[in-house]
Amino acid sequence: MPSVAVQTVFFVASPRAGLLNPNIGMTTRVLTGITTTGTPHLGNYVGAIRPSVEASRKPDVDAFYFLADYHALIKCEDPERVARSRHEIAATWLAAGLDPEVVTFYRQSDIPEIPELCWMLTCVTAKGLMNRAHAYKAAVDLNVENGVEPDDGVTMGLFSYPVLMAADILMFNANLVPVGRDQIQHLEMARDIAQRFNHLYGQGRELFVLPEVLIDDDVATLPGLDGRKMSKSYDNTIPLFMGGAKALRSAISRIVTDSRKPGEPKDPDSSHLMTLYRAFATDEQSAQFRDSLKQGLGWGDAKEQLFTLIDAEVGPMRERYEELMGAPDRIEDILQAGADKARKISGPFIRELRAAVGLRAAAVAPAANSKASAKSTARARFVSFRDDDGRFRFRLFAPNGDELFLSQPFSNPKEAGSVMRTLQSGVQASWVVQDGHDVVLRIDDIDVCRFPAERLDAVQHALSPQETASA
Ligand code: TRP
Repeated sequence: MPSVAVQTVFFVASPRAGLLNPNIGMTTRVLTGITTTGTPHLGNYVGAIRPSVEASRKPDVDAFYFLADYHALIKCEDPERVARSRHEIAATWLAAGLDPEVVTFYRQSDIPEIPELCWMLTCVTAKGLMNRAHAYKAAVDLNVENGVEPDDGVTMGLFSYPVLMAADILMFNANLVPVGRDQIQHLEMARDIAQRFNHLYGQGRELFVLPEVLIDDDVATLPGLDGRKMSKSYDNTIPLFMGGAKALRSAISRIVTDSRKPGEPKDPDSSHLMTLYRAFATDEQSAQFRDSLKQGLGWGDAKEQLFTLIDAEVGPMRERYEELMGAPDRIEDILQAGADKARKISGPFIRELRAAVGLRAAAVAPAANSKASAKSTARARFVSFRDDDGRFRFRLFAPNGDELFLSQPFSNPKEAGSVMRTLQSGVQASWVVQDGHDVVLRIDDIDVCRFPAERLDAVQHALSPQETASA
């Protein structure tokens, strides 16, 4: 698993399912995370960060981007490094133009609903499925090769890491997950797990949207200094911000080329300098660079041109990056605001899921034919009435008498009555989060009522069978 995912972006307007559908209209929820173990390099920027920022600006995209710091613990036991990397990756994303007002931008470890969901999913995930995970299998193969115990050094974190990733994705009912090819299998597993959970607990509803993987071949995989894929594990990276313009220029000067002298024609297609150049240039600029190489541009000059091109894009970001790195409180505020936004969705949804698996407050079921117990066990009540405008509405009250919601007005009393009875019968209503803080209860496309998300638990409890009476 690379420390910074190589991601790609692509758009489709796909229909959304899900009990708690936070978006109305044809937006696509795109979600991705970056594991916080390293310092972003140029390859991460071009392969992951830049496309994610571009995607987030599309009007039909509802982007959820997060710092996968629980994932970092799987492979990094250095607390300082995890902490520093979280900070660097957050600053990089912001410096690259991510607008936290538009994107839901958060740190995984600020969302306690994720590990809770992870456990629920763990309990429906076949161990055999995890046995097939590439990352785990690779570790086992290596151990066998080295003649040690197959599971030597394998933690439960590594083994079940696809479940945590599924929780990240399913928690927010993401439609599309842009990732690198090495992550395709994890998306398949997330779908498997979601299907199994839906089947076991959905009672015909789709609790989870089945996410789709997104691999975009247009996004460049940058070559590193030696021409292999740029990666920390190959020690061939070009820094993005670290060390400033000086370090960028010096890394570029170390890119391996052939030994052709200035004046000798070069072959642009076999030079990874060209690939790097193309990742930052317009088509016109690329064509020019190509011609210059063919006409004998010296490698030294070519590298200088490459530096100038990259620095024109990266330089202004570097300034913002340095500023942010010097203001950790600002990053923290942004992440906290992001966590608040995310939890407006994950909070009500996890309550829904808890109820679905049976982790709910004991329902006070009145003993069927005992008057005494019926009296002592207060029940939730519907009260219907005619409002000042002559239209028909009803209210739902909790057993303790608190008003839970007021319905929308119906012009026809029969319609109001039928909606009320449908609710009483315990039918599957759908819950839609609106404006981030309200829940709209919907039956057959009718918005029945709207109430603050904090009340969702109480409303659902009141609407569970045997809880309601009408007046
Ligand atoms: N596992 C991914 C990687 O190593 C990072 C990641 C964690 C992620 N959770 C995710 C990516 C959810 C997409 C969606 O690259």
